[in-house]
Amino acid sequence: MIHPIVKYGDLVLERPTQPVEKFDGELETLVADMFESMYAASGVGLAAPQIGISKRLTVIDVSNGKNPEAKIICANPEIIHSEGEQREEEGCLSLPGFRGHVLRPQFVTVRAQDASGREFEMRGEGLLARAFCHEIDHLNGTLFIAHLSLLKRDLIKRKIRKMKKAGEW
Ligand code: NI
Repeated sequence: MIHPIVKYGDLVLERPTQPVEKFDGELETLVADMFESMYAASGVGLAAPQIGISKRLTVIDVSNGKNPEAKIICANPEIIHSEGEQREEEGCLSLPGFRGHVLRPQFVTVRAQDASGREFEMRGEGLLARAFCHEIDHLNGTLFIAHLSLLKRDLIKRKIRKMKKAGEW
């Protein structure tokens, strides 16, 4: 089932999430829904709060659905190692139309659980490292605009306020 993506302004996006404790059929359905919703919105990552569910769960596919092996499910992920730097433009499905350059590590190692609760570690480079950081930020209630300069962030917030008033957000 495709869920609508929650947009900036909804407090669920700014609250830390609750750990995933039950690895059951319900979680599998949620994961499938998250992939479906992410592909429908042409995203490369989606965190559960972005469909209104405050759980420590994210799905990532930097191949954009082209490679089934690129599908990653992370329950309760933590970054256990990071290395290097990259500064690239970043966007977010919850902030459509806005982008900004964000400094992230070039390499990130994540420890997480899969949909059946099995623990795994995965190292990502470049876009995947960026996706890990961006999605785990979501699970901590942080959006990418938090990493922009105060000036840039305020500009975006002001534009969104205007759009809201006009009924365009
Ligand atoms: Ni995002």
